[in-house]
Order: sequence, then structure tokens, then C-alpha cells
Amino acid sequence: MEKINICVIGAAGRLGLCVLKALSQPEFAAQFNLVGAIVSSQSACRDKPVALLSALRTKLLFSENLQAHLDQTDVIIDCASAESTLQTLALAKAAQKKLIICATGFNAEQLNQIKQAAKTLPIVFAPNTSIGLNLTNAVAKWLGSKTPDHTDIQIIETHHVHKKDAPSGAAKQLAETVFEATDAHPSITSLRIGETVGEHTLLFTLNGEQIQLTHKAFDRSIFALGALRAATWVNQLNKPGYYTMDDVLLLNEK
Ligand SMILES: NC(=O)c1ccc[n+]([C@@H]2O[C@H](COP(=O)([O-])OP(=O)(O)OC[C@H]3O[C@@H](n4cnc5c(N)ncnc54)[C@H](OP(=O)(O)O)[C@@H]3O)[C@@H](O)[C@H]2O)c1
Repeated sequence: MEKINICVIGAAGRLGLCVLKALSQPEFAAQFNLVGAIVSSQSACRDKPVALLSALRTKLLFSENLQAHLDQTDVIIDCASAESTLQTLALAKAAQKKLIICATGFNAEQLNQIKQAAKTLPIVFAPNTSIGLNLTNAVAKWLGSKTPDHTDIQIIETHHVHKKDAPSGAAKQLAETVFEATDAHPSITSLRIGETVGEHTLLFTLNGEQIQLTHKAFDRSIFALGALRAATWVNQLNKPGYYTMDDVLLLNEK
């Protein structure tokens, strides 16, 4: 089987480094080649060896120049920020390279641009690549469709204090799922506490009783594993489209 050539954007950030670390594990080293590790032009890591910050045996240097790595790339994994995603999107579109968007914090106009680009390119929009959280989303959809009309639904999300956007992309996704199932907009409370990796709780309050559905991420590596699973999935795809982790994890199949 041919290896999948991966280019990681935001490669020196928390999530990007997790992807690089996962790629050094034998199971993933057998499936993937890292062909680009892109950082910002201000990054202290620019032009430094990738091997310094990861266990990868590679001569690759962290680079600010995505364009220079695109020819070799099969799949781009974007772990940077909403602002830089649109630049990545333009280059991916021009070079027709499959894209997984792990970054979060997009406004409606940016989301619209992503959806437009997905008409010509396979894009996995994955504000949360955790398998458990995507299963939680599927359960929330089911619960939302079964609970009575007057049910009060709220979401509480907790993350580390360094997180730039609030609410989290995953909380927004859960809220959208609940809205689709119930026609009601759940309120979202965002907490930023210490080094919390990520916790999402849905509260379904009925008359005199409450269902709480909680997902906790113990380790950031789960996001990297999900992103690599999405890379394997999208690499086989030859159809443009706007896909999500539901497609990757086959959660839409009966
Ligand atoms: N999908 C998921 O499951 C998941 C999980 C966790 C986080 N996230 C999201 O992923 C994003 C990154 O999270 P994080 O915790 O890793 O944040 P982070 O530590 O701040 O990493 C982001 C990295 O992107 C780099 N960057 C900024 N602009 C860039 C550009 N134009 N080109 C290349 N790199 C650029 C940053 O600067 P330097 O290049 O200067 O270092 C930084 O290292 C956030 O939007 C976060 O909400 C998603």
C-alpha cells in the first residue's frame, strides 16, 4: 500500500505537534509520510528541523511556505487558526489538494467560503476529531429527537486558558446538532480552566429530571488520531464535497 503524503499546517502548535508525534508511532509511520510542516512566518520554529520537536526521523525543516510543499502532498491537515485557514483554502483549491480543517473559530462568512471551496475539493470540516465526542454528538441528536418539546437543553464546555475561541468549535457543532433535532437553540456556557484538554456536557432538563451527557478528553493525542483517520478516509475519495467526522466515522449509515 502506498503511503499517504501529509502536510500539517500549524505544525509547531499544540495540536500540530500531536499529529507529528502520532506520525512517529510505527502504526502510522507505516501509513503516512510527512512532506510538509508549516508554521507562521513569525514562528520561532521556522527553518528548524522537525526532528527537534518530534520523534520523527526526518530531515524536513519547519517551513512557512505551504506552496513549496504542495506538489508532494496528498492531504493537508490544517491545525492552525481560522485566519490562516482561508489562505490555506485558497492554495489547496488552486492545487486541488484534499483538506482536513481541524482549526476552529470561523465566522459565517468564512464558513461560507469553506463550503464554496468544497464544491470543487474534498474538505473534511472537523472542529473536533475525537471519536468519542463525535459519538456524543450522534447520541445528542437521538436524545434531542426523543425528548419532549419543553425540554431545556444547555451545553457547558471547559477548555484550557490558552484557547483563543469561545464557544469551542465542538460546542457549536453540538448546538447545531441539537437545533437540527429540536428546532431550539441551546445556550452554551464556556469555561476556561487551567490546562483542561476539553470537556463538553449536554444537560437535557425535563419536568423533575435531568439527563447529563458528558465527554472528557484526557489527552490531546485523541485529536491527532482522529485527524489521521480522517486523512486515510479522505485520501480514498475522488469526489469534491463538504464532509464531517460523521462521514469519516460512518455515523450517518443505518
Ligand atoms: N479539531 C480538533 O479536534 C481540535 C482539537 C484541538 C484544537 N483544535 C483547534 O485547532 C487550532 C489549533 O489549536 P492549538 O491548541 O494547537 O493552538 P496553538 O497551539 O495556538 O497552535 C496553532 C499554531 O498555528 C500556527 N499558525 C498561525 N498562523 C499560521 C499560518 N499562517 N501558517 C502556519 N501556521 C500558523 C501558530 O503559530 P506559529 O506557527 O508561529 O507557531 C501556532 O503554532 C485551534 O483553532 C483549536 O481550536 C481543534
